[in-house]
Amino acid sequence: MNPPAPQADPARPRLSARGIGHRIGERKLLHGLDLDVTVGTSLAVVGPSGTGKSTLLAILGGLLAPAEGRVTIDHGHGRSVADSVSWVLQTVNVLPDRTVLDNVALGALADGADWNRARELARPALERVGLATFADRPVRALSGGEVQRTVIARALVSTRPFVLADEPTGQLDAATTTRVMDSLLATTATRGLVVVTHDPTVAHRCTRTVRLTDGRLTHL
Ligand SMILES: Nc1ncnc2c1ncn2[C@@H]1O[C@H](COP(=O)(O)OP(=O)(O)OP(=O)(O)O)[C@@H](O)[C@H]1O
Ligand SMILES: [Mg+2]
Repeated sequence: MNPPAPQADPARPRLSARGIGHRIGERKLLHGLDLDVTVGTSLAVVGPSGTGKSTLLAILGGLLAPAEGRVTIDHGHGRSVADSVSWVLQTVNVLPDRTVLDNVALGALADGADWNRARELARPALERVGLATFADRPVRALSGGEVQRTVIARALVSTRPFVLADEPTGQLDAATTTRVMDSLLATTATRGLVVVTHDPTVAHRCTRTVRLTDGRLTHL
């Protein structure tokens, strides 16, 4: 008897933005944008400074309500958009007096792990971003790029299906950028990744790239 046919892949979670419009004061920043990212893929968002990339990312992850349109999640196992994403933000949100290890562990703590388990998960993530020897330092004693890598490691330990990263390599040298992107892209085996970046080498490594100019998206 033939072996049973392989099961179709379970539908992968997909984050979908439809008809997103947004204004800041009198300025219409975003015009009816549609965007999708599916677990297993990565999307780069590029475009000039001030065009609204960070605003779009905040809308995509449920941090900011758009004036028009909506963001939904398909096959998200009932979780809200906001509960489905982990963040690597441009304005760094860390606990400066806690150690690097504890800041990274917060990513797993937010998913329900206890402190011991969260710290256990944090160590290999620190290794991946090259901060293994910094585990016990308070974050206030780190350089800008080291803080950025701490925040990336925190997103790496999360099990939420999407990582939204705003210029995650903006303060990193080329070799560290490669290393960090290796780690972020490795997580797309089980997650979806959106990276806002000004670095063409980062964009080129992603599955797809969109450019935001004058409030509209061009698929590159
Ligand atoms: N809360 C706010 N109040 C007023 N203006 C804002 C606010 N947030 C963003 N803006 C303006 O909206 C525009 C888009 O900002 P946003 O941060 O989304 O740009 P960006 O594409 O991410 O730029 P960059 O590449 O420099 O990070 C900018 O001109 C910014 O000054
Ligand atoms: Mg920005």
